[in-house]
Amino acid sequence: MSKIKPSKGAPYARILGVGGYRPTRVVPNEVILETIDSSDEWIRSRSGIETRHWAGPEETVAAMSVEASGKALADAGIDASRVGAVVVSTVSHFAQTPAIATEIADRLGTDKAAAFDISAGCAGFGYGLTLAKGMVVEGSAEYVLVIGVERLSDLTDLEDRATAFLFGDGAGAVVVGPSQEPAIGPTVWGSEGDKAETIKQTVSWDRFRIGDVSELPLDRDGNVKFPAITQEGQAVFRWAVFEMAKVAQQALDAAGISPDDLDVFIPHQANVRIIDSMVKTLKLPEHVTVARDIRTTGNTSAASIPLAMERLLATGDAKSGDTALVIGFGAGLVYAATVVTLP
Ligand SMILES: CC(C)(COP(=O)(O)OP(=O)(O)OC[C@H]1O[C@@H](n2cnc3c(N)ncnc32)[C@H](O)[C@@H]1OP(=O)(O)O)[C@@H](O)C(=O)NCCC(=O)NCCS
Repeated sequence: MSKIKPSKGAPYARILGVGGYRPTRVVPNEVILETIDSSDEWIRSRSGIETRHWAGPEETVAAMSVEASGKALADAGIDASRVGAVVVSTVSHFAQTPAIATEIADRLGTDKAAAFDISAGCAGFGYGLTLAKGMVVEGSAEYVLVIGVERLSDLTDLEDRATAFLFGDGAGAVVVGPSQEPAIGPTVWGSEGDKAETIKQTVSWDRFRIGDVSELPLDRDGNVKFPAITQEGQAVFRWAVFEMAKVAQQALDAAGISPDDLDVFIPHQANVRIIDSMVKTLKLPEHVTVARDIRTTGNTSAASIPLAMERLLATGDAKSGDTALVIGFGAGLVYAATVVTLP
């Protein structure tokens, strides 16, 4: 017989507030064309992207996270002192240790909240949301901040035709807290490590440090290039189109709802053609609002879903209480999908 008392959490969890931060510098496709052989028309038609935001020196991972989190806390009406955990999903925080989450928790004024980073690529928001729901229901934290943040411009090879136009910077955050009714459905998530090579860092940090130029990518002047994220665009595209629609459908089934019950669809903002294809495969009815934030935000990896959510609510295209399907997928390869009630 166990002597441990059962933990006391909330019956359910929900997203109570959302906030976003987009860097001030807006970068049109013309800037991308300075370094790759492409065209504005090609980038728009193949990816949907017209502009993206690139962070300046002051717009650090921590600074953008603090901005987005402050807005999410205000939106939720929750003081930072009541946040029990800060979960930061990012692949672009450049120190191996400590996690950037602890600095963010401190700068926000939390009361020594638990804080840690997770690396789950473009599925990072869904992974963080799942952890947060668990903490709230299990009772380890009353309120949890889930932050998706990236400065992918630091990890973009502007001479790489497969990615130069794709990535953007920004931060999105949500506050997860107690609920009397289900408002975050079961997560359908997973990984396919056999496809790890399809999205990866060009050179690992240890190889980069050794600096053997015979192995390292060089720029036009013969200098060693800083590591960047690269991908096999077509392989990722096919995987996303064929496999992720199935995962999205499983998340609907797990939540016990049909496409007709949905108000909003917020997929990871990877490529507008992937989004359109998923809408078709899932047979989403006309009334479902679809996030296409990628047009002006680019692919911001872990930040893309909360940023798109924030924008839909800010523009009035979605409203509080709407039922939304969210799905993230990317490097790993990893994925996570769930149905949520919008804050
Ligand atoms: C990257 C991506 C937009 C490329 O589109 P695509 O239609 O697959 O392009 P392809 O690689 O098949 O290339 C098609 C043609 O365009 C050309 N091309 C490739 N990149 C180009 C560029 N940046 N500008 C202009 N032409 C380009 C190719 O050379 C090829 O020309 P060809 O037909 O004469 O050989 C698309 O594959 C994609 O979005 N993939 C998934 C991205 C993603 O989601 N990544 C992150 C996961 S989270």
